[in-house]
Amino acid sequence: MAYETLLIDIEDQIGTITLNRPDALNAFNNQLMTELTQALDAFEADDDIGCIIITGSSKAFAAGADIKEMQELDYMSAYQDNFITRNWERVTRCRKPVIAAVAGYALGGGCELAMMCDFIICAENAKFGQPEINLGVMPGAGGTQRLTRFVGKSKAMEMCLTGRMMTAEEAERSGLVSRVVPLDTLMDEAKKAARAITLKSRPIVMLTKESVNAAYETMLLQGVTFERRLFHSMFSTEDQKEGMEAFIEKRDPHFKNR
Ligand code: CAA
Repeated sequence: MAYETLLIDIEDQIGTITLNRPDALNAFNNQLMTELTQALDAFEADDDIGCIIITGSSKAFAAGADIKEMQELDYMSAYQDNFITRNWERVTRCRKPVIAAVAGYALGGGCELAMMCDFIICAENAKFGQPEINLGVMPGAGGTQRLTRFVGKSKAMEMCLTGRMMTAEEAERSGLVSRVVPLDTLMDEAKKAARAITLKSRPIVMLTKESVNAAYETMLLQGVTFERRLFHSMFSTEDQKEGMEAFIEKRDPHFKNR
């Protein structure tokens, strides 16, 4: 499939989507979000892909929703068209792991999309922010909710109310990103992490992702009960038998994804 706003690469069971609207710092217009949804659908359906990376350019992961497109919206059209939810949240429904590799600006919807991924690895020049308040709106793709869960109320509130950007160092310190790496190694590091995931048992990876998400999306008691159910279910897989047998026999496991 040909995309106008994305670049696609598939290698070593890793599907990489590069956001590609350089003239607008990868701002999310309707076309980009529709294409992103289509690309994620295609990657999810492709059995040769075990992990997905979403990235942007060295200057911008994405500078948020396309302000020029959004400017003309009125309440009724935003509501009736279900603006944002309609084609923005496909990434949250991915069952395969999705890594955000962030360099440069991740602002507004750009920060929100990165937070919808399973984890964020960022370059030293990354800048995260929810500057919507400067435009007379607030984050509309989960920013007030997800940022608060990542970095806590005080920092999230300050960022959403003042529009202040966070550096990569502050983002790592606050738990927003898993790791900061030099800009020229960003894609290598993201691919190394993706490769490590693709070598694991795919169903166990998917169940583990569901379980970590339960911690993030539910209350503790529900989350721990959910985890226990999934943990018990893993003892019905061949990969659990193989993984534990391999450990005891001091050899590498050969997972069959069953
Ligand atoms: N939408 C549309 N176009 C954008 C854009 C956006 N979000 N961000 C940047 N651009 C465009 C600029 O208009 C400019 O285009 P022209 O050359 O045609 O004028 C081009 O990208 C380059 O941008 P700048 O000249 O501004 O680049 P800079 O290096 O001086 O500044 C920046 C970079 C600080 C990121 C600045 O572009 C900026 O502040 N962008 C807007 C960030 C923002 O407010 N994001 C939130 C959007 S609202 C949202 O996302 C809602 C939601 O929750 C879903």
